[in-house]
Parts: sequence; C-alpha cells; structure tokens
Amino acid sequence: MSTESLKQIVSKMAVILFLFTAIGTAIVSLSYDLTKNLITDNQKQTLLKQLNSLISTDLYDNDLLNDKIEIIDKENLGTTMPVSFYRARKQNQPQAIIFMPVAPDGYGGSIQLLVGITIEGTLLGVRVVSHQETPGLGDLIEEKRSKWIYSFNGFSLEYPPLEKWNVKKDGGIFDQFTGATITPRSIVKAVKKSLIFFQNKKEQLFQ
Ligand SMILES: Cc1cc2nc3c(=O)[nH]c(=O)nc-3n(C[C@H](O)[C@H](O)[C@H](O)COP(=O)(O)O)c2cc1C
Repeated sequence: MSTESLKQIVSKMAVILFLFTAIGTAIVSLSYDLTKNLITDNQKQTLLKQLNSLISTDLYDNDLLNDKIEIIDKENLGTTMPVSFYRARKQNQPQAIIFMPVAPDGYGGSIQLLVGITIEGTLLGVRVVSHQETPGLGDLIEEKRSKWIYSFNGFSLEYPPLEKWNVKKDGGIFDQFTGATITPRSIVKAVKKSLIFFQNKKEQLFQ
C-alpha cells in the first residue's frame, strides 16, 4: 500500500471517529437536558400535590409554586437553612400560607414539617415531610401510620389557649404516644412556634 493511500485511510478514520464522538456527545447532552426537565417537572408536581393536601384548589387562583419567598430564622423555624413560604391568594387577596418549618428536637433528629395557616391564623393542617423517628414508636406522626397529625386541623393561637399547646403529659391537650413523648412534644412545640411566627410576620410574608 502506498503512503498516499495509507494517509487517506487514516484521515477517513479520523473523520468517522470525530463524527461518532460529536453525535455521541450530542445524544448524551440532549437526553441529560430532557431528563433534567422531566425530573424538575416531577418534583414540582410532587410539591404541588403536597401543598394541595393542605389547601384546596378553590381557595386560591395564583401560581402557588412561584409565589414563594424564603426566610432564614433558626430560632422560630428550627433550621439554619432557608425555609420556603408558598403564598395562596385569590383575586390578589392573601388567603393562606404554606411553609416548611423544622422541629429540630425529635428523638432521631430534625423533623421536616409542612404547615398551612389561613390568613386568619387558623391551621389548615400539618404534615410530616421527613423524619428519622423510631418505627413503631415515633413514626405515628406519619399520616399513613395514625391520625395524630390531624389533631392540629382548625387550631389556632386562640384555641387551644397558649398554655395548652403541649402534650397531655406536660399539661396540654395533644396526645403523646405510648412510650414516646419526645416526638409529639417536638412537633407540638414547632407548630406553636409556627403560628406565633405567622402572627408576628403576617404583613411581611404577603408583601
Ligand atoms: C430504642 C428506642 C427508641 C425510641 N424511639 C423514640 C421515638 O422515636 N420517639 C419518642 O418520642 N421516644 C422514643 N423512645 C422513648 C424515649 O427515650 C422516651 O423514653 C419517651 O419518649 C418518653 O419521654 P419522656 O420521658 O420525656 O416522657 C425510644 C426509646 C428507645 C429505647
């Protein structure tokens, strides 16, 4: 084989290799973009579903997921991380807020909550988003394990009165669990703090 035709073969192969690499890279980057968008959409849908488990869709007409602010307040919200506040409005009038405070002193560590409060200061409800409490003891805070988390529905700082915002063992009105007081105590405390925080910051929260 002449040197000239060897050169031609090598350069043909180089072109083919380049094309394969370019096409491969384009396919990988395209599927990454598509998957990333799909994941983001799924996460948004999951979040919206969580929010709508506390606020019915006829109570608001704004884009809940995008009407959001973030606040850092370790003392009142239980975490050094920014806490998201989703504002529900109807015809531009504030209706309710849903946010994600943390109960920092659960038995197994921090308990991530979802708390919904109407503009009048009444609890739409509370949900546990994540926790590390002990299965069979502290995990009765989960909606699927017991109805305990519904105890907060419709409560406010007026009812029960402030001094009754405790588990029964501490003189309050909320049930503790058999052999597990730390977990419910931690959540009752965090929900009470959330209500007080909302009462104090209501105007700023909806600005
Ligand atoms: C292995 C183990 C796991 C426990 N898990 C929990 C738990 O998840 N939540 C809880 O409130 N208490 C849990 N407890 C019980 C607490 O240590 C505590 O005794 C109980 O909450 C009563 O608290 P009190 O003395 O403040 O009323 C657990 C105890 C043991 C030994």
